[in-house]
Amino acid sequence: MKTAIYPGSFDPCTNGHLDIIKRASTMFDKLIVVVLINPLKSYSFSISERRALLEKATMEMKNIEIDSYDGLLADYFTQRSDVDVIVKGLRATSDFEYEFQMAHTNKDLNPRAETVFIPASANTTFISSSMVKQVAMFGGDLSKYVPSVIHKEISTRLKAEFEEKKRLAALKQDL
Ligand code: COA
Repeated sequence: MKTAIYPGSFDPCTNGHLDIIKRASTMFDKLIVVVLINPLKSYSFSISERRALLEKATMEMKNIEIDSYDGLLADYFTQRSDVDVIVKGLRATSDFEYEFQMAHTNKDLNPRAETVFIPASANTTFISSSMVKQVAMFGGDLSKYVPSVIHKEISTRLKAEFEEKKRLAALKQDL
């Protein structure tokens, strides 16, 4: 039985992530999608919100587990003795350098941690979580960029966050 993990921030999960999840799930017996923290990023969704969105988006898929971890991916790998490989998606050559560095760092931290790359499907190569957030905050249509079951939830949540930011900025100007 081969098990892979697909790590990421998923802030929020997009059709690009779902493309990799669907395809990786046919290559392995089990795929664990793990929500992790990149300490250099600030997030719109909490870890539990990101997990819940992923759970809804993959509800129909049989061999998927959603998990989260507050720590190094290499340590998660060490703790899960059932995991064989890390899966990452590559959208363009611009992703390569960063992903290559992460793959080597993870292997250096845990020699068992091999990474395999799956090229993103052509229609998802331009999608990113921050692009989705920007479109949603200005009231744009997200339906082509995020899974349909979570599209309304993401739009509502991000619009509310943006309105709150604008309200706080206006308050500051009044001071
Ligand atoms: N389709 C669409 N978008 C994709 C994508 C795909 N196939 N693959 C990646 N992306 C996007 C994401 O939406 C995200 O967009 P954003 O920058 O606009 O938010 C961006 O590409 C980066 O994706 P992600 O894989 O989530 O990278 P990250 O830098 O946010 O997080 C972690 C990577 C969380 C896996 C990494 O930081 C980590 O392992 N953290 C734990 C601590 C650790 O071990 N650090 C690493 C030591 S090397």
